[in-house]
Amino acid sequence: MSKFILIKKKIDTFKKKTLSIPGDKSISIRFILLSSLTKGKCTAYNLLDSDDVTSAIESVKKLGIKIIQKKFKCEIHGKGLFGFKYRKNLILNAGNSGTTARLICSTLIDAEYPVKVIGDKSLSMRDMKRITKPLKLFGIKLKDNNGRLPILIKGSKFTKPISYIENLGSAQCKSAVMIAALKTFGVTKIKSLPSRNHTELMFKNVLKVPIKIKNKKKYDYIEIKGKNEIAPFNYKIPGDISSASFFIVLTLLSKNSKLILKNVNINPSRIGIIKILNMMGAKIKFLKKKKYYGELVGDILVKSATTLKAINLNSSLNSSAIDEFLLIFLVASKCEGVSSFVKLSELNKKESKRLDWGIKILKMMNIKTRKIKNNGIKIWGNKNFQKNKNYIIKDYLKDHRIFMVATIAALSLGGNWKIYDPNSFKTSFPTFLKLLTKLGAKINE
Ligand code: S3P
Repeated sequence: MSKFILIKKKIDTFKKKTLSIPGDKSISIRFILLSSLTKGKCTAYNLLDSDDVTSAIESVKKLGIKIIQKKFKCEIHGKGLFGFKYRKNLILNAGNSGTTARLICSTLIDAEYPVKVIGDKSLSMRDMKRITKPLKLFGIKLKDNNGRLPILIKGSKFTKPISYIENLGSAQCKSAVMIAALKTFGVTKIKSLPSRNHTELMFKNVLKVPIKIKNKKKYDYIEIKGKNEIAPFNYKIPGDISSASFFIVLTLLSKNSKLILKNVNINPSRIGIIKILNMMGAKIKFLKKKKYYGELVGDILVKSATTLKAINLNSSLNSSAIDEFLLIFLVASKCEGVSSFVKLSELNKKESKRLDWGIKILKMMNIKTRKIKNNGIKIWGNKNFQKNKNYIIKDYLKDHRIFMVATIAALSLGGNWKIYDPNSFKTSFPTFLKLLTKLGAKINE
């Protein structure tokens, strides 16, 4: 693949197309890590085949777990809760994946020898204190690099349960404490701001871990009783709503188009983008809803929007839309009126500083945009996009979501776009360009 892609033409109208979106990244990584702790063979169907998931697979293999990848399924042969084979000088590389890095650390709290966890340039700049702080409380030895990777973990056979308040609204932080609790005798208690709840649903419905969950007004209260062996399980992974969102926004912003996305995870803790877009005037619908191990799954129907209106959003939907804000900003830039979004400091802690990048891209597109107090952003919508200009996107730390949102902007608005680092989307959505081509997009690779 070359160093950049070129897009010179808006996508044409597409009518009544149906697409299947690859497996959910959060659930795929959780499947790999949690099945490696069971005793026996676990099988996943529709596991996401992406670089982030490969990082999780390769890390678990290094811990002595056999993994067999076939065309449509992936088998993991767990050796029990304490079945990892720790060797001296073990290094696990989480690549670009924050979920892998943060969650795998929590599986290492019984490590006999120090294990080093490393990552790529972008991941090495991200905050790890959010997990090293609670993990140390379990009674293990852990050294980080000023709150960043590399992390060196030497575990203990005598970890102690903890009580922890998770105040960032981070599912990765909450899940790290939950997974460490599995290997710890006694009851670990977590008070957590709401965030995606895939780990809770898997613990309760799939792993059958003794867990109590209370969802109160502001916080979720979770209690986990540890040191119980986990029986193997099978899991059919639904499509990823974060990946689906690129196609939802493309359809909304294109003319006279209609799209159905099949079998997508529509867990209420993940559909902030749908709620926000519908508040802005989209009419996105869920069809054929069903429950699978507690996860809500369904088809998504989206049509081109006739009118979209600006929005002043409070922060209540932030965590359920956290990976989709760049797309929401793009829609706001095409609305009548001024939109504002607040309390988005977590956005600048992702694979790149996404809040700053959002502002930069919109300004380049001649959209008046300003950072406002409370880590917020104000966007003055402008329907008249300049199509006769060149737009170049580069130096964005190879953040997959920046690459993909720029591609959607190019295909829905027009103009001449040169977007660097096309390999980046393989982190989460390797079939992204192929699916766009199926809808008629013209992309020069
Ligand atoms: C994820 C949680 C979110 C999200 C990330 C995946 C997960 O991060 O941004 O892409 O799988 O738990 P935080 O938990 O840090 O908000």
